[in-house]
Amino acid sequence: MNYIGGKYKLLPQLLPLFPSNISMFYDIFGGGANVSLNVNSEFVLYNDIVPYVSNMFNEIKGEDADLCLNKIKQLVTDYKLSKTNREGFEKMRDDYNKGNKSWDMFFTLMCFSFNNQYRFNNKQEYNSSFGKHKSCFSEVTERKFIKFMDRLNNIDISFLNKDFREVDYSNADENDLVYFDPPYLISCGNYNDGKRGFKGWNQQDDIDLMNLCDKLDEQGTRFAISNVLEHKGLKNELLINWSKKYNINYLNNNYNNCNYQENNKINKTVEVLITNY
Ligand SMILES: C[S@@+](CC[C@H](N)C(=O)[O-])C[C@H]1O[C@@H](n2cnc3c(N)ncnc32)[C@H](O)[C@@H]1O
Repeated sequence: MNYIGGKYKLLPQLLPLFPSNISMFYDIFGGGANVSLNVNSEFVLYNDIVPYVSNMFNEIKGEDADLCLNKIKQLVTDYKLSKTNREGFEKMRDDYNKGNKSWDMFFTLMCFSFNNQYRFNNKQEYNSSFGKHKSCFSEVTERKFIKFMDRLNNIDISFLNKDFREVDYSNADENDLVYFDPPYLISCGNYNDGKRGFKGWNQQDDIDLMNLCDKLDEQGTRFAISNVLEHKGLKNELLINWSKKYNINYLNNNYNNCNYQENNKINKTVEVLITNY
């Protein structure tokens, strides 16, 4: 399978661990929608507390891919964007922050940003830095965009921007899958630090998420959580103990088919998918 987006390195290991028959796939921490766009299910509900990606998807779903591409290319020309033109990138970022917040501005900024990552500060200003020498809108990006549009226009997807605790799970049943890919408590991400215009992630969030999964389990709904049990010598002890009730799938190649307990002294990142099915 060719993955849409494709920046999310664990997708090839993750997707085969999902059940083959999913009616509604709840992607509760949807982020860049890598999982939403690649999962095999009848319906997708994408949720993320941050609205930027879903706003973009809402704007372009149903649009013609060539027209969208033309808009992006026009911006690349207007701002003379290239792998080396920092001024062009910064001018575009300024214009975006001054109110020109169309989806094509957001997408094109992301293409030229460091690591192609979007990042916002507390004032909700786009503040990713320029991806000098690396980031651009290449032919490969163009081909990926066409595939992405094709997929977006052909799946039944809806969007929410809620805290994970506020999503309504009461209709989720045994045919559905609720997937959680939260910020990882012991490894850092832009979205963990509470300085991005929304509250950060702490141990109480982890506890609330574990309690929510227990509730889903009691109501007979399948769930799956991506997380990190160990990272650079730190362990998420609460999660390790809680996860023993469920099935733990180790995603790092180094830990496949081997006993985590026997290897827990190794100073590595231990990424897992915890499931109740
Ligand atoms: C590990 S990332 C998810 C990556 C995603 N699977 C992808 O394909 O890009 C975690 C996401 O959780 C979101 N998030 C953080 N706190 C949240 C909360 N309380 N409720 C819902 N989403 C939250 C962040 O905005 C971030 O996009």
